[in-house]
Amino acid sequence: MKDYKSIENLLKANNQEHIIDFLNKLDGDKKDKLIRQIEKIDFEQLQELYENTKREVEIKENIIETIKYSDKEKLSYEERNRYDSIGEQIIKSNKYAVVTMAGGQGTRLEHEGPKGTFKLDIYGKGKYIFEILIDNLKQANKKYGVTIPWYIMTSKENDEATRNFLEKNNYFGYDKNNIILFMQSELPLLSLEGKLLMGKDMKIKEASDGNGGVFSSLRSTGALADMKERGIQWVFIGGVDNVLAKLADITLLGMTVDQNLEIGSKSVVKDNPHERVGVFCKMNKHPKVIEYTELPSHMAEEVDNNGELKFGESNILCHLFSINAVEKISKEVLIYHTAVKKNSYINTEGKEIIPSEPNSYKFEAFIFDAFDLFDDMAILRVKREEEFAPVKNKEGADSPKTAKELYEKYWSRKEEKK
Ligand code: UTP
Repeated sequence: MKDYKSIENLLKANNQEHIIDFLNKLDGDKKDKLIRQIEKIDFEQLQELYENTKREVEIKENIIETIKYSDKEKLSYEERNRYDSIGEQIIKSNKYAVVTMAGGQGTRLEHEGPKGTFKLDIYGKGKYIFEILIDNLKQANKKYGVTIPWYIMTSKENDEATRNFLEKNNYFGYDKNNIILFMQSELPLLSLEGKLLMGKDMKIKEASDGNGGVFSSLRSTGALADMKERGIQWVFIGGVDNVLAKLADITLLGMTVDQNLEIGSKSVVKDNPHERVGVFCKMNKHPKVIEYTELPSHMAEEVDNNGELKFGESNILCHLFSINAVEKISKEVLIYHTAVKKNSYINTEGKEIIPSEPNSYKFEAFIFDAFDLFDDMAILRVKREEEFAPVKNKEGADSPKTAKELYEKYWSRKEEKK
């Protein structure tokens, strides 16, 4: 451990003197822990990330082109059968795993605890989000006669709570040996003025480093090695908060294999040309999800010969990767983006500040930046009302209320069809 003086100097040199005040008020174990945490911070990286928040976004001369997709509804009978039987065969031979990324903070939902532990008010009794996902996996297991290994990415912030919750609920009847939790890495949060934030527990506040952290975390935690040991060839990676996500879609899987590609993804059609969502495209000849802010307005409105938006395939965070692709990406460094989020902290008087407005920078790598490492990917357009019901905000759009409606409508349609 570095001596106290050099820690002080380090903090001063990086404009973090307020942390010295906290250190001076601590002793014993708590002080040692804080010092050890400070030692681990890469201040150079943090400074660079903070400077990036002030930098004007560089508009490079990018070549933005459309990307090919297939509409699940419009596949020919022959194509659909071919894809489905390829996909089915892979799942049946235990070569398929699912990763759920649940390391996010879920700040917009304002739920106390990991998002998966949120109970969605469906059918009177309610169901936890994790339970909904497990139900989906169980259905697939029954259909294909296997137990799909389920990897859950947590963060330091929510790992314990996630483990305890699943344990307490007896993994909702899922085989415990096929649920593998792994933790993603973190980066410190910074105030809008570039200061480290102190938490109630007298630790510097850190948060998960974005869903793009999934690849390196799979590798560093040994989860990737575990997949390989089990003979996994294909990995579905999705978010925790889409309660209509189909975790084992044989059509997407078979189509990606059939097209001889290493990555695949699902899309839903944009609601309107200016919906604030990221859409699939090719940028500089590589697949990419382009943010609505980056897509020139005239391009957002362009339609093809069939009257469809040329850039209308929005990303719903349902991705598929070959194990080799996961391995390849895990060795690369993805860039960090900045998100401005609400994070509580304590001030130097020891008072807890709970912000009503976003007050801090969180640095996040995005999973879709990995697409750039490939020449092409398979995209399957699916129906929004069948596959996309996100729980993001406390109220309004993409909230528990909208997700409940979508979920109940979908399942009652399914029942009617039976
Ligand atoms: P979001 O971007 O919606 O973020 O994550 P969030 O943290 O859940 O919610 P807000 O923005 O704070 O309200 C999309 C998916 O990526 C996961 C989330 O758990 C969610 O499933 N994620 C996000 C991670 O696993 N790690 C991260 O660091 C960030």
